[in-house]
Amino acid sequence: MNEAFAQDVDDGLSAKNKSLPSRYFYDAIGDSLFVKIMNMPEYYLTDAELEILTEQTDDLIQAFGMNGDHFEIVELGAGDGLKVVKLLKQLNSHDFSYAPIDISAHALSILKERLIKELPKLDFDGKQGEYFEVLDGLKNLDKKVILFLGSNIGNLTDARAHSFMKKVAESMNKHDKLLIGFDLKKDPKTIERAYNDPHGFTRDFNLNLLTRINRELGGDFAIDKFRHAPEYNPESGTMRSFLESLTDQTVNIKSIGKRYDFKKGECIHTENSQKYDLETIHKIAKNTGLRVKKEFYDSRNYFVDVLFEKEIK
Ligand code: AVI
Repeated sequence: MNEAFAQDVDDGLSAKNKSLPSRYFYDAIGDSLFVKIMNMPEYYLTDAELEILTEQTDDLIQAFGMNGDHFEIVELGAGDGLKVVKLLKQLNSHDFSYAPIDISAHALSILKERLIKELPKLDFDGKQGEYFEVLDGLKNLDKKVILFLGSNIGNLTDARAHSFMKKVAESMNKHDKLLIGFDLKKDPKTIERAYNDPHGFTRDFNLNLLTRINRELGGDFAIDKFRHAPEYNPESGTMRSFLESLTDQTVNIKSIGKRYDFKKGECIHTENSQKYDLETIHKIAKNTGLRVKKEFYDSRNYFVDVLFEKEIK
């Protein structure tokens, strides 16, 4: 049994306002549902960022400012790496190595296999471990560009996003750059469609968390007695996903040895997907020791990849 998973589930379901951490979405089924989400037109984030990376590659590379020196592209949360391939292909003539960081050695070896097929000459330098442990070890590297794409930052609470950027900034040197993908505030309907799609992929992705608890922790969640219930607040820009109980019910989780009561209408908060505005991004930069060097938008202004450098005092 996965002790940490059991502990997190117990903590979340015992709280007054029930919640479950969104990082547990990503088992094998969750991974494949997320690929479906990324491929559907309603989930505009993927296309928007791909457009930026494909059509503004030369400007991006110029803004990296590496001036012919060797540098390392360090990617946090690379996933299947397909988005970054565009950028890496374009970097062909530059002297760089690609260092994705992942906690899973397995994920890194799959990524390596894939990338080497597409880019046989790529200097692949995958690093296994926690982001910050690895980043600390890279502090003395000459030059690096750190990537955190796909609006992964939006899944962190404000406080965590803040401390995340601060820590990344601490691992950076004078010439280093940091590229972060932020999803922007826009027409709420567009955002709501992306997180409550007509195909039901996002619903299945959210409900899969309960299936995973049933399988891995001996839970008896009746999946059809919960509903995918996302809620967007246009003022704060926070898209919050919930699983709402459709009836009064009690769920038993064997390996925790506890029962959890749900009232009809009671919700489990499962994810935050923050949407940003430029003012907030600049404010975070200022508070975390970073400076905005350049912003790269897609043609609809749905998404921005922001290039930061370290504020040197
Ligand atoms: C991984 N992350 C950036 C996605 C998001 O948009 O928050 C996860 C996701 N949740 C529902 N759909 C996609």
